[in-house]
Amino acid sequence: MSQSPLTRSMNLRRSVLSVPAIIPRALEKTHQLDCDSVIFDLEDSVAPEKKAEARENLAAFFRGKPLEGKERIIRINGLDTIWGRADMDLVSTLGPDAVLLPKVDEPQDIMAVGDILADADAPEELRIWAMIETPRGVLNAAAIAESGRTAGSRLDCFVVGLNDLRKETGVLPQPGRQYLVPWLMQVILAVRAYGLGAIDSVFNDFKDSDALDAECAEARAMGFDGKMLIHPAQIEAANRNFGPDASAIAEAQAIIKAFADPTADGLNVINANGRMIERLHLVQAETLVHKARLIAERQSAKRPETK
Ligand code: COA
Ligand code: MG
Repeated sequence: MSQSPLTRSMNLRRSVLSVPAIIPRALEKTHQLDCDSVIFDLEDSVAPEKKAEARENLAAFFRGKPLEGKERIIRINGLDTIWGRADMDLVSTLGPDAVLLPKVDEPQDIMAVGDILADADAPEELRIWAMIETPRGVLNAAAIAESGRTAGSRLDCFVVGLNDLRKETGVLPQPGRQYLVPWLMQVILAVRAYGLGAIDSVFNDFKDSDALDAECAEARAMGFDGKMLIHPAQIEAANRNFGPDASAIAEAQAIIKAFADPTADGLNVINANGRMIERLHLVQAETLVHKARLIAERQSAKRPETK
């Protein structure tokens, strides 16, 4: 039986900040930032002659003060590059929450990373994330996502990469992304069919907060869990747009209350002030309230103690 996407384990991934591992100052900054997840990048933001230095920076950062309350993902160079294997050795040594594989074209790419992790006896909790950013990656999104069902697969989340996809396809960057939306929705359908997470692509123009806001709202409406970010100034907009607002939380709580009433016993459909609600709305409402609780817990963990 298929697992409902709404019942899969849910991590907060509203804001997923990419940090170039070549910049120690940026790595240190992550302790103070309010993003849900951090991608430590060894790939595109690091020049070829600096790859070894970036690995050393990252190892030093992981040896230092633990990064609390944030998911830690290491983006490696592809296994078909001269750096990929050394990056994977570092992943096995450091033990992040996930490794992010760039330019995934087909299920075999994921399996190759899974085999390396298995050979290194990496803990089961170390997951694999996949960048979907090539024409073949988009075409094969469903097959790649389905491979996450294979016994022992660590596949957990897709991250869309539109800079590469635009470069490969010739689609121009335009507000509203109208020519990209069919591909974005194909990715959403694939992840939801197989219970994975989905993170929208970066927005390059980090000084344009209105346009970022619009793109976050659009991605939320498409069904993405969050957005990959390139700059700390983008975190607030992602957290706000991908987190439930007060009216959505109040509505969800009202649905939970309505179904908890004894008069709803044995009913699959009820009348709530002239609007039909079904038990499937109850599942959605519970998921939303759970997410709101995770956000509230994060906020209270951050608050300084008062004496
Ligand atoms: N993570 C953590 N800190 C970051 C950061 C990031 N992604 N981007 C910027 N900062 C820090 C800077 O170090 C700087 O800190 P400081 O004032 O203490 O020195 C502060 O935020 C302000 O930075 P700003 O001057 O506005 O930007 P910049 O010119 O230093 O950097 C970019 C701009 C785009 C080069 C930089 O944000 C970046 O490298 N982003 C990530 C790119 C990336 O990961 N690409 C691959 C995925 S597509
Ligand atoms: Mg890329």
